[in-house]
Amino acid sequence: MFKKVTESANYIKSKIEGRKPEVGIILGSGLGEFAERAENKIEIDYNDIPHFHKTSVKGHKGKLIIGEISGVEVAIFQGRFHAYEGHSLETVVMPVRSLCLLGVKKVIITNAAGGINTAFKPGDLVCISDHINLTGTNPLIGKNNDEYGERFPDMTEAYNKELSNILVESAKEVGFELKKGVYAAVSGPSYETPAEIQMLKVIGADMVGMSTFAETIAANHLGVKTAGISCITNLAAGLGQEKLYHDEVKEVANLAMEKFTNLLTMTIKRLK
Ligand code: HPA
Repeated sequence: MFKKVTESANYIKSKIEGRKPEVGIILGSGLGEFAERAENKIEIDYNDIPHFHKTSVKGHKGKLIIGEISGVEVAIFQGRFHAYEGHSLETVVMPVRSLCLLGVKKVIITNAAGGINTAFKPGDLVCISDHINLTGTNPLIGKNNDEYGERFPDMTEAYNKELSNILVESAKEVGFELKKGVYAAVSGPSYETPAEIQMLKVIGADMVGMSTFAETIAANHLGVKTAGISCITNLAAGLGQEKLYHDEVKEVANLAMEKFTNLLTMTIKRLK
């Protein structure tokens, strides 16, 4: 398993001319445009990276971008693989593991999510304080490579508090309040039923989505500090009047782009 990710990371290293990204970012549905902000870019197509696949989801571009934001070297994955596309979790965590092997010390994972907490409205950005993995699976199942991380990694602070506080402070500085919430991860691809959303509410979830948990677990396993941002693209099933559509998810994420871009740019500046 780790042989593959080493090969992916080595390929990326061979293409980035000795540059050493410090911060890694994974962009979720509709949030890919942020990568255009980077300067001195090197772009690598997922198709060219060994063991990577094409992303089949609309709104996910499938490119790795190495560049500079606020003078900090960053590596940005524009699009991710999801288990619901039929990918193994090994494939799903390949990008984040490659980032960690490239020497990135901090990772920010982003996604689109349905809002369960009634204080959230479409277009809000929320700092992920914790997650509940309801998918019944885990990317670390299988033989462990002790060189990379321990068999039973601690998840008490899966979303690093210090990094999360920097996100909250950066949002204030750019003029909005970043709320905090617990992310429930489900497998998808069907959206939840209203009854499932009521259950998620009872167990303490503030938002729901189909990604992120696996990358967070893999990054923690490798000892890399992780933070997460959800863009609330819709009220979760049964909480609004409307049916849910993926096109709406992309559209709302796009509307939140300016706030999202300002937040990440300020956060990265503070990580200098
Ligand atoms: N449910 C699950 N995943 C999602 C949603 C949702 O309502 N919105 C965006 N991603």
